[in-house]
Amino acid sequence: MTSSDRDTDLQTASVERRLDAIQTALEAHGLDAGPGAAELAQKALEEWIPQNGARLVAKAWSDPAFRRRLMADGRAAAIELGLTMPPHHRHLVVLENTADIHNVICCTQCSCTAFTIIGLPPDWYKDLEYRSRVVRESRTVLKEMGLDLPANMEIRVWDTTADTRYIVLPLQPPETIGWPEEKLATIVTRDSMIGVARL
Ligand SMILES: [Fe+2]
Repeated sequence: MTSSDRDTDLQTASVERRLDAIQTALEAHGLDAGPGAAELAQKALEEWIPQNGARLVAKAWSDPAFRRRLMADGRAAAIELGLTMPPHHRHLVVLENTADIHNVICCTQCSCTAFTIIGLPPDWYKDLEYRSRVVRESRTVLKEMGLDLPANMEIRVWDTTADTRYIVLPLQPPETIGWPEEKLATIVTRDSMIGVARL
């Protein structure tokens, strides 16, 4: 089998076709997926958004006591800010970037993220290409994604599990020191909290 054959075998149907197939299968069993799907879509668009994580990051940059609580127990700190996490997301581990250390998150098995905090995973995060290569050749993958890190910067790759979720705490850009929290939150991107970008 050539590598292109393998690529062809690994291609999946479009999201729309997969959604249709699941709904058809559920309906065949007498189950109506409509209301549940609509509720999930509403949460994904309005509640599970990267602005939640951006608030956490901005507060951590602004409030040293909160930052200590966030580092010690990310889940408790998120709840303190009024954010929610599903019960099975038992731990939110905060990965602090420094001038010398860069953290990046993946899920080698599937697509796990702290989705209520940093938003639903983008399509590339779920691709076998990213999941398999970021652990083996992280520097190259990050460079391909536009993040060219200095050779002497250490890269730490974190593989998400069912009960342990991660968020990268980006390094605060020096020119933003002293900004109000609300303004700081506007510069924090989803990609910077996954670790495929620095601010
Ligand atoms: Fe996963």
